[in-house]
Amino acid sequence: MKFTAPNIKPCFGLFLVSIVLLSLVFGSHAFAVAIVGDPVLGADDPILGSKHDFTGLNDRAGVVAMPGVAFSDYGYSCVYCHIPPEEAGAQPADFGGIQDWNRFVPAVENYQLYPQSGSQTLDTRPGTPNPISMLCLSCHDGTMAVDMVVFKPVTFDPTQDNAMHMRLNASDDIESCGKCHNGQVAHNIEVKVIGTDLRNDHPISMQYAGLGWDDPDFRPPDHQNGFDNGVKLYEGNVECMTCHNVHDTTNELLLRANAEVLCFTCHTK
Ligand code: HEC
Ligand code: HEC
Ligand code: HEC
Ligand code: HEC
Ligand code: HEC
Repeated sequence: MKFTAPNIKPCFGLFLVSIVLLSLVFGSHAFAVAIVGDPVLGADDPILGSKHDFTGLNDRAGVVAMPGVAFSDYGYSCVYCHIPPEEAGAQPADFGGIQDWNRFVPAVENYQLYPQSGSQTLDTRPGTPNPISMLCLSCHDGTMAVDMVVFKPVTFDPTQDNAMHMRLNASDDIESCGKCHNGQVAHNIEVKVIGTDLRNDHPISMQYAGLGWDDPDFRPPDHQNGFDNGVKLYEGNVECMTCHNVHDTTNELLLRANAEVLCFTCHTK
């Protein structure tokens, strides 16, 4: 017999709400330094079922090859980016991780960044990626396994780990998702790989040129955090999450605005 989820959902929802309320009332005020991927808050997060949800991927894709084989399934989706709740208060950077994020620092010293001089158009030089963009690059540069997190959840039993810890890389080797994701066995993953050469992508981790010094090529932001259409600045900087939002699947490719209007949010020409 098919289990009908809608019957239990309303009261389960109420249950969650009361937990959240209770924790608001009685919760400790010692806020974590890093953002915690809280499974209760995340109960209906749009990330679930999106490309970044590595739990249940075999079922969704109709294969047996991914969680448990290509990468470890930690049992809940948030920990591939956020520290698990039981580590609240811990700082991944103390363990070789990225400041505030549950991932290791990618080898940014091997990146090819925008040239410090030469590009005539760049007023403000993009530098080494900031932590929030390092988070994205820790998978999308293709050098580290997608399941390589600083803190594994306590519920995960490492002795059961038989995964191959593959990287988001189009190469045809046993360490890379490209082994299958070559356009034949499975969809080609190449277009999702930013790689370590950032010169051919939109510049990141630089101050937004439309800020303060009235560059006529750029619109001034609508408010401190960016633009009314959702395009977001991080302490005045352009980052991967400026144009994308992994927590919002409304637009294609997790973009904050449709590709047609996105560029002219900032650029006047
Ligand atoms: C692919 C990486 C990734 C995954 C997976 C992920 N998040 Fe996030 N999350 C982010 C990023 C990046 C931000 C920062 C957004 C910002 O500051 O604009 C964030 C922000 C948050 C915030 C803070 C929101 C705010 O406005 O400060 C919460 C809460 C959160 N995530 C919960 C979760 C939960 C719960 C899950 C699992 C269901 C999850 N996240 C999975 C990347 C991720
Ligand atoms: C959040 C604001 C913002 C958005 C949105 C944006 N850009 Fe930019 N873009 C910038 C900034 C800032 C620079 C750096 C310019 C400078 O400092 O002179 C830049 C630089 C560039 C450059 C020049 C790079 C170089 O090497 O000279 C190109 C090309 C470009 N953007 C294209 C685009 C396209 C195409 C889109 C839409 C997909 C887009 N931009 C969306 C802010 C933005
Ligand atoms: C834990 C590894 C991991 C991290 C961290 C990560 N991604 Fe991804 N991302 C993936 C995988 C895997 C895919 C799906 C690749 C595929 O479809 O072949 C993906 C897909 C995407 C896509 C394409 C979505 C689509 O609909 O095809 C975008 C855009 C993206 N990621 C942006 C980001 C941004 C921005 C961040 C940082 C906030 C980030 N990712 C962090 C692993 C990651
Ligand atoms: C043994 C072969 C194999 C390996 C290895 C493999 N995949 Fe897949 N994957 C598939 C197949 C088959 C599909 C379903 C057909 C498709 O989407 O092309 C799939 C689908 C996907 C999807 C789409 C799921 C959706 O909901 O749209 C994502 C994302 C994905 N794989 C990510 C990865 C990542 C990341 C890795 C490496 C860490 C990986 N896969 C390794 C075979 C594989
Ligand atoms: C200025 C806006 C902007 C910034 C900054 C930006 N992206 Fe994108 N991204 C786009 C647009 C527009 C597309 C879709 C068109 C394309 O593929 O070029 C895209 C596509 C993607 C895709 C999917 C490629 C595909 O065709 O399936 C991934 C993955 C991705 N971006 C990841 C990142 C990561 C990681 C960063 C930071 C290193 C980043 N993006 C920074 C605008 C941006």
